[in-house]
Amino acid sequence: MAGLIERYIDRLPFELSDPIVSIEEGSTPLVPAPRLSERVNADVYLKIEGANPTGSFKDRGMTGAVSAAAREGAKAVICASTGNTAASAAAYAARAGMTCAVLVPDGKIAAGKLAQALIYGARVIALAGNFDVALKLVRELADRHPISLVNSVNDFRIEGQKTASFEIIDEIGSIDVMCIPVGNAGNITAYWKGYKEYGESPELNGYQAEGAAPLVLGHPVEHPETVASAIRIGNPARWEEAMAAVTESRGQIRAVSDAEILDAYTWLPANEGVFCEPASAASVAGLLKYGVSDAARERAEGQRPKVVCILTGNGLKDPDTAFDNVGSVIPCAPEMSAIEAAVLG
Ligand code: F0G
Repeated sequence: MAGLIERYIDRLPFELSDPIVSIEEGSTPLVPAPRLSERVNADVYLKIEGANPTGSFKDRGMTGAVSAAAREGAKAVICASTGNTAASAAAYAARAGMTCAVLVPDGKIAAGKLAQALIYGARVIALAGNFDVALKLVRELADRHPISLVNSVNDFRIEGQKTASFEIIDEIGSIDVMCIPVGNAGNITAYWKGYKEYGESPELNGYQAEGAAPLVLGHPVEHPETVASAIRIGNPARWEEAMAAVTESRGQIRAVSDAEILDAYTWLPANEGVFCEPASAASVAGLLKYGVSDAARERAEGQRPKVVCILTGNGLKDPDTAFDNVGSVIPCAPEMSAIEAAVLG
């Protein structure tokens, strides 16, 4: 399978002769979710972005940003990250033969993401500060040194990520509603750009964690807190674009609590067989909490509305949160009677 730049070359600012850096990202599964569909009385699909090469949607943006950096002759890339961008930047930099540095909030990124950034060979810097501080610092650093910034303030990130909208429409046609977690707000910006370029206009609903909901409150949050560490962000860089996306698409940005996020996070794998990370579960938590709008039902004209939830990252990224929210394993002696008791309960 080709990577997404090759797949959508006509709609991206690249030529096939460019030095494209790809790990065959994109083309992720769009899986029907029958139990969730029943709960909200709609046809719900899950876009499994955790199936990308490094386990998150960031790979879509990173093939764009790192290919553009390679074309410009860059030797090094840098980003601030709550974890997934770091893992993805590290992988694509390795692939391109570039060096990579990542700034992450010390102690606040999931174990799998940290392991990834390190094993792909990045220089991992644990900042005594949150994501917003880290992003401000790397933006300044990239201005002072010949290092390419690959956060979603880089427009090539948005270009790569908009292809997820193309994939959805190419696969199931027009949809009525899309639900997506929002952190730094690059992804919702990218999806909306993609839909507009395809002449589509689904209702876009973005969800933030209650303790990190600047776009809901209408002002930055100085000390964002949430169990969904990927979206622990208090001052999104793509603020205006995200608000424009929901306004133009007649959607909203709303908050879900950590308890609601964790409910969706544990319900999905047990009921749909799909394991995503906590931040990703915010999209499903939001759909369950707020339901499908009357306006979207009206637009569906008597049909069941078609809804897509974006599951941005793989559940395996964050084993600690999984262990904190499930039962324990059952110890067992190697004897039939003990095994029978353990298995049959
Ligand atoms: N879901 C996951 C799993 C993420 O890692 C992120 C962002 C988001 C949702 C929100 O996307 O920022 O475009 O609104 N992660 C960034 C990172 C901030 O550094 O990995 P957004």
